[in-house]
Order: sequence, then structure tokens, then C-alpha cells
Amino acid sequence: MNVGLLGFGTVGSHFYLLAQQQPGVKVKAVLSRRPRPEVSCLVTADVARILSDPDIDTVVEAMGGLHPAYEYITAAMEAGKHVITANKQVVCTYYNELLALAEKTGVALRCTAAVGGGIPWLTSLRRAARMDKMVSVEGIVNGTTNFMLSAMVRRGASFADALHEAQLLGYAEADPSADVEGYDARRKLVLSANLAFGVSLMEEDIPCVGITNIQPRDVAVVRDKGLTFKLMAYACREARGISAYVAPVLVQQHTTEANVEDTGNILTLVGEHIGRQSFLGAGAGGWPTASNVLADCLAVAAGERGYYTRDCTPCFVKNELLDGQWFYRFKGEYYFRQCTAEAAFSTYAVHLMEDPEALMAKVR
Ligand code: HSE
Repeated sequence: MNVGLLGFGTVGSHFYLLAQQQPGVKVKAVLSRRPRPEVSCLVTADVARILSDPDIDTVVEAMGGLHPAYEYITAAMEAGKHVITANKQVVCTYYNELLALAEKTGVALRCTAAVGGGIPWLTSLRRAARMDKMVSVEGIVNGTTNFMLSAMVRRGASFADALHEAQLLGYAEADPSADVEGYDARRKLVLSANLAFGVSLMEEDIPCVGITNIQPRDVAVVRDKGLTFKLMAYACREARGISAYVAPVLVQQHTTEANVEDTGNILTLVGEHIGRQSFLGAGAGGWPTASNVLADCLAVAAGERGYYTRDCTPCFVKNELLDGQWFYRFKGEYYFRQCTAEAAFSTYAVHLMEDPEALMAKVR
């Protein structure tokens, strides 16, 4: 396999090093605006040199962002090249188009590294969804916010210091608001739910609350109740569609989720017959994420084609049947409320109009 590598940031540079040790996976060219003296193959700022090279059969996109990643991915597929990406934003946003293009061109499109960093989640979910009817998917899917919450809970770090540390360690997205506002988790939820339920969800349809309003006093209050905050994504099959949300969740301190620390992710599927299965591991960082990119290369080299599924029926998000307990801080007062997820997010939107620092969390 001859690879054209687009991007040489955290994921790209680690993939380059991993590929050096993998017979059969040869990086032939790297797209980079800057000189890369550590790279022994062609380094170019001209993507056309990679996309028009008939010797390059596979493009690994590790640039992130929507544009020009989308244009480069589609051009590569049109040129008959397989595409492997860690870019959840581009796959989530152009889901139907990219699946259709993979089908039309007969190439492989894989993004296992896009959800769960180094965890083989999408491949495991695909395996489960082929043999069983999926009931729900959920998990801690953002390493940056989990790292930050761990630092805030265990070391009493401030929100700003914890974020700065996560950025220095290369965990955060280029725009870290995608992490702390929950958008990165929501994209990972879309990719997971789409695969689990054979649907195509719109990212914007899923209510999403991040961790920006969690304050040290909240951490102390919930700790006294034997609880801890985790940012979690959840989706389940309902009678009339799919229920889904991203929100801070209060989990009991003795649970597995509560003890997923630092950049750890945990992803759980529930199937009608196989029951509950959880996948736990490193959810961010160069080596784990690049390992999943490399695993995708090996799968393509072994003959995998297309996307993981062809099923992508457009589907609405319906949260009016999903009942549960929710926790709020509004104007300095804490309270619990039993209601549907739809009502919970509506209440929070009203709270935010009067108190921009208001907090909401799901109680597990
Ligand atoms: N910013 C992402 C995270 C990177 O922190 O989870 C891995 O997808």
C-alpha cells in the first residue's frame, strides 16, 4: 500500500512513524506547508502532486477541519484512491455524500480513529450491528474534557489551567470550544448512532451541553453526594425515531465510568441479544489515534471496501419519550427534576436566558 499523508500534526506525524515499522504500508508523500526535515519521502504543499500520483493508492487525511479536508477527500475518492481519516467533523457533516461516493467509486472509506482514539469502537460496533439489533450506544467520548474533569476533581485544577494543559499535550481540537462545548462528542455520537441504527442523523438536531459551566463549587457539591461529573453522549432507539443527547452526567463514584480518568474513553453498546458491551481505552493522543489509522490501512490492504455500512436513512431526533432525572444549578440554587430529556434541555435553555452560568447534568 502506497500512502499519501495529508497533514503532519499530532495524528499525522505519529502515523508516519508507525508506518515506518509496518511492512506493506509505505508513506510516499506528505502534504505539509512547512518543511519536514525528519521526513524521508516527498514533502509537498501541493496536494495535486499527491492526488495525481498513480502510485499512491491510499490517502490518509489527518488535517482535521471541514475545508479543504472535504475537497481533498472527495478528489482522492474520485481519483480511485482509498481514504482513511481521523476527521469526525468531515465524515459527520458530509455523511450521506461520502458514503454515496465510496459506493460509486468502489474505494474504501474508513474513520475508525475518529471515535474513541485508539479503541476499535466503530469496527466492534459494526460487527455487533450486523448480527444484532442495537438498542443504545453511549459513552465518554471526548478525551480533552475527561482529562480536564479529572484534573478539576482530583487536583482541584481550574478550568482554564486544565484546558491549557490538555492543549499542550495535544489532546484538544484546533478550536478547543469543539471539545468543551461538547460538539466533538456530538460528532462522535452521530457516527456511532448512524452505524448502530443504520440512520443518518443531523448533528444540529442533537441537544448538546458541554462542561463550560461546571464550577469548583459544583464539583464539591456532587462529591458530597457520592457523585462525579463526566461528559457523556447517549443515543437509543425509540418507537418513533432515535433519542440522543450530549451532556454532563453525574455518575456514582464506584462505577466504571467514574473511574475512567484522564484521556480515557469508554464506549458502550447494548444489543437485544448480546446485551451490554463496553470498550475502554485511550481516547485521544498521537500514538493511540495513529494506531487506529494504521489498523484501517491494514484492513484496506486486506480487502475492505466502502464504508462500514450502506444504511443511512435520514432520521429525526425525538427526545420526548426519554425519561430521567436531571440536576440543575440556577441562580445559585441546586435542584433535581424528573422529566423527559426534551423537557430537561428546554428548561435549561430558559435558565440560561436569566443565568448564563446555570448548570445542568443528567443523573445516572
Ligand atoms: N479532541 C479530541 C478529544 C481528540 O479530546 O477527544 C480525539 O478525538
